[in-house]
Amino acid sequence: MDITWDMFVETEVPKDELIISRTDLKGIITYANETFAHISGYEPEELIGKPHNILRHPDMPKRIFKELWDTIKAGDIWSGYVKNMRKDRGYYWVYAEVSGVYKDGKLVEYKSMRSWVPKEKRIQMQNFYDKIRLEDKENVRAVCYLDVDTYEKLIQKSQEQGKTPEKLLKSLLEK
Ligand SMILES: Cc1cc2nc3c(=O)[nH]c(=O)nc-3n(C[C@H](O)[C@H](O)[C@H](O)COP(=O)(O)O)c2cc1C
Repeated sequence: MDITWDMFVETEVPKDELIISRTDLKGIITYANETFAHISGYEPEELIGKPHNILRHPDMPKRIFKELWDTIKAGDIWSGYVKNMRKDRGYYWVYAEVSGVYKDGKLVEYKSMRSWVPKEKRIQMQNFYDKIRLEDKENVRAVCYLDVDTYEKLIQKSQEQGKTPEKLLKSLLEK
């Protein structure tokens, strides 16, 4: 049984460092600084050419990214708190500022600068985003403790049925 659930390990952005990236107009990463690669757990080459949603964490409400895109497309600066997922499925919080890059008055790219978030703010934003996802009928994060026999049964049955454990639980509840 080699399923690991390591989504709950936090990496803290150093207080004196900035995560910087640029994307094309579709959100494909065109530049990533060393700090970005280091904190996200990717090599810079792995990030370049990928859509920025490679970092998307399931705790982030869809509504927030809609606001982000609506704001930057309108030519304004979007700022807010984002929980990102690392390559190893751990997470890190950033305060982000996202805006357009203009050449001769024409929008050519987008850029983002991200920095450290105080712990109290991270907790507050986690609760706020949990509330929004519930309001918007998106996913709910649920952690439960199972005895080993039940856990092994769950994993074995889900493998037999080619379902994720979540899908299997859902189908059992719907019976
Ligand atoms: C410059 C820039 C930086 C972005 N940074 C992030 C980020 O750090 N994390 C993230 O999940 N989405 C980021 N996004 C938004 C993604 O493009 C995407 O909208 C989001 O991950 C949601 O994925 P989805 O649109 O496929 O639902 C950024 C977009 C731009 C233009």
